[in-house]
Amino acid sequence: MRAQILGTGHFLPDSVRTNDDIAKMVDTSDEWIRERTGIRERRIAGPELQNSDMAAGAAKRALEAAGVDPREVDLIIVATVTGDHPMPATAVLVQQKIGAPNCPAFDISAACAGFVYALTIADSFIATGRARRAVIIGVELLSRILNWQDRGTCILFGDGAGAVVVGPQEDDSAGASAVLGTSIHTDGSLAPSLIIPAGGTAKPVTAEVLALAENKVFMRGQDIFKVAVKNLTSTCKQALEKGGITIDQVDWLCSHQANLRILDQVASRLGIAPDKVLTNIERVGNTSSASIPILLDENVRTGKIKKGDTVLMCGLGAGISWGSALIRL
Ligand code: COA
Repeated sequence: MRAQILGTGHFLPDSVRTNDDIAKMVDTSDEWIRERTGIRERRIAGPELQNSDMAAGAAKRALEAAGVDPREVDLIIVATVTGDHPMPATAVLVQQKIGAPNCPAFDISAACAGFVYALTIADSFIATGRARRAVIIGVELLSRILNWQDRGTCILFGDGAGAVVVGPQEDDSAGASAVLGTSIHTDGSLAPSLIIPAGGTAKPVTAEVLALAENKVFMRGQDIFKVAVKNLTSTCKQALEKGGITIDQVDWLCSHQANLRILDQVASRLGIAPDKVLTNIERVGNTSSASIPILLDENVRTGKIKKGDTVLMCGLGAGISWGSALIRL
């Protein structure tokens, strides 16, 4: 049994932080950030918002778009590295906030690849008949785990959530909506290149940890950049092969939004036309696991992505973990 996406939704906090705002906090400039990353501004959650609030907001919109009652939901997967608490999972808080009692709800941690990981898991649950109405959410409140004195990282990220409802395929004729293929990978040898060194059980928070900001995101950007283009290109090719289609049959590349230069290079290596490459990094920055479903939903809602369109999604981040998913909407 194949799975299909039944509805999409997203949630972005109202508050905008521009590059000029950040240039007042660290030694950087709007010009540097735009040229090196493509980002102009990002959304920042105010103190009243928690990760689970954004996740629930996106999930409710996806359920509404799918025409699915929350009580029908039989699986919730939240992909996040910025959950409300170390325990319990954010998915259990989302379960309560959207009113979906009695379904299994759990989190997965695959950073910027989290959404394609979660979709791959949901696809397997649907394929084996273990779920019929799965809510998959990518959500991050990264602004609370960034070192706002580190110009190498604080310029990149933003907050937000995106969600999809997944169910069994309603029609199995050629050209019908379906998850056509997914591919996920991990290379743990690069774990130290993108890491929050402390705050877990390996190094609990101490006064020294706080003074050194070791409980915040640390990244060797060049290490990630080098592998991102190669790995995202290869995983996309694998999803295309699994789906049995060629790149010229893809309507949209809906990639994780890490850096416009990475995106351009992946698109060029895949041989997809620039006008098929969707972006919102200029407005929302890198929202990690939330970036693919936010971008997907924005373009569904404006009518750019239409029912029946073929969409190639891919993401790579801490781990490093990466993956792709090819869907027909
Ligand atoms: N403003 C101004 N200068 C900055 C800066 C900033 N915000 N951040 C770094 N610099 C400086 C560096 O200090 C360095 O200066 P130096 O040459 O005097 O030492 C110079 O700019 C170049 O730094 P470098 O790190 O080589 O820049 P870069 O072109 O690689 O761009 C990133 C940095 C982070 C934008 C880029 O590496 C990147 O996007 N990497 C991938 C990150 C990623 O995708 N991470 C998340 C995965 S989901």
